[in-house]
Amino acid sequence: MRDQAEKLRELARGYQATAKSPVLKQPESRARVITVTSGKGGVGKTNLTVNLALALANLGQKVLVIDADLGLANVEFVLGSSPRYNLLNLLDDGYRLSDIVMDGPRGIKFMSGGSGIYQLANLTEGQLQRIVNQVVLFDKWANIILIDTGAGLHRNVLSFVMAADEVIIITTPEPTAIADAYAVMKAYAAHHGRAPLRLVVNRVLEMDEGQTAVDKLGKVSQRFLGIGVTNLGFIYEDPNVLKAVKGQVPVMVAHPDTISARCIDHIAQRLLYGKEVNQPTGIKGFFSRFLDMMR
Ligand SMILES: Nc1ncnc2c1ncn2[C@@H]1O[C@H](COP(=O)(O)OP(=O)(O)OP(=O)(O)O)[C@@H](O)[C@H]1O
Ligand SMILES: [Mg+2]
Repeated sequence: MRDQAEKLRELARGYQATAKSPVLKQPESRARVITVTSGKGGVGKTNLTVNLALALANLGQKVLVIDADLGLANVEFVLGSSPRYNLLNLLDDGYRLSDIVMDGPRGIKFMSGGSGIYQLANLTEGQLQRIVNQVVLFDKWANIILIDTGAGLHRNVLSFVMAADEVIIITTPEPTAIADAYAVMKAYAAHHGRAPLRLVVNRVLEMDEGQTAVDKLGKVSQRFLGIGVTNLGFIYEDPNVLKAVKGQVPVMVAHPDTISARCIDHIAQRLLYGKEVNQPTGIKGFFSRFLDMMR
C-alpha cells in the first residue's frame, strides 16, 4: 500500500495549473523554507521568528510565518492578532488560502498550522490534493517561509526540522539550554539531516558569552556527531523584548532601534547575503519530506 508521503509527492509532481489557478502557469519559483527550533523551551524561538520575518521584509523579502507550535498560540500572541482558520479549513467548501493566512506588519503574512498540520498524514488522497492545490501558492507569495516550532525532541517538532531547507537552532548561553540544543543536533544527525544547521545564541550579556556557546556546540557536534554548525548571530538580553511581548507588538516594530532589534537585523542580513545554502525546494519539497517523517 502506498504511503501518504508517496501520494503527496505524486500529487505535487503531477500538479497542473487549472483554469482556477492561472498564476501557476508562471515559471516555478521556490521559497526557502526555514525552521526555527530549540531544545529547551522559552529560549526565544517565537520572538526570533516573528522579528526575523520583519527584518527580512525590511530587506525586501516576501515572508510567510507559519506557527507550528501546538502549545500556546505563540506567533499570534507576539503579533497581537489571531487567524480564525487553519490548514484543515481548506477542506471546507469555499475556503481558500487567503482565508487562513493573515497580514502582519510590513507586509509579512502568517498562518496558524494548528493541529491541522499534524493531521495531514491521515487525510485521503483527495483531501491532500485539495490542500496541495492551494498550498503550492505559497511559493508564489513568499521568498522565505519561517516556521516557528515548539521546543524539544517530539516527533512532530523533528518533522519540521527534518523537512526544512534550512534550520536555525536557538539557545541561550545557559548550560541546560546548550545541552538541550545539542540533543536536537544529535537527533538531527541520527535522522541524516540534510539542511545546514545554524545557531543563534539569545539573551547574551556580552559577545564572549555567545561565542563560547557556539564554540562549545561546534566542537562537540563535530567530534561526536560529525556535523558542523555555523554561527548565525547573537541577540543581546534586552528588556524591550519583554515590553514588546507585553504590548503584543513585535520588538522590531515597537523598538526598531533597540539592541535586540539590531542584532536580529544582522541575523537577517547574514541569512540573505551569507554563504550559499541548500537549493530551496519550496513548499512542495517541504510537504513531501514532512509527510515522510510523519508516517
Ligand atoms: N533577547 C531577549 N532579551 C530579553 N528577554 C527575552 C529575549 N528573548 C526572549 N526573551 C524573553 O523570553 C520570553 C520567551 O520568548 P519566546 O516566547 O520567544 O520563547 P520560545 O522559545 O518561543 O518559547 P516556547 O518554547 O514556549 O515557544 C519572552 O517573552 C521574553 O520575555
Ligand atoms: Mg514559542
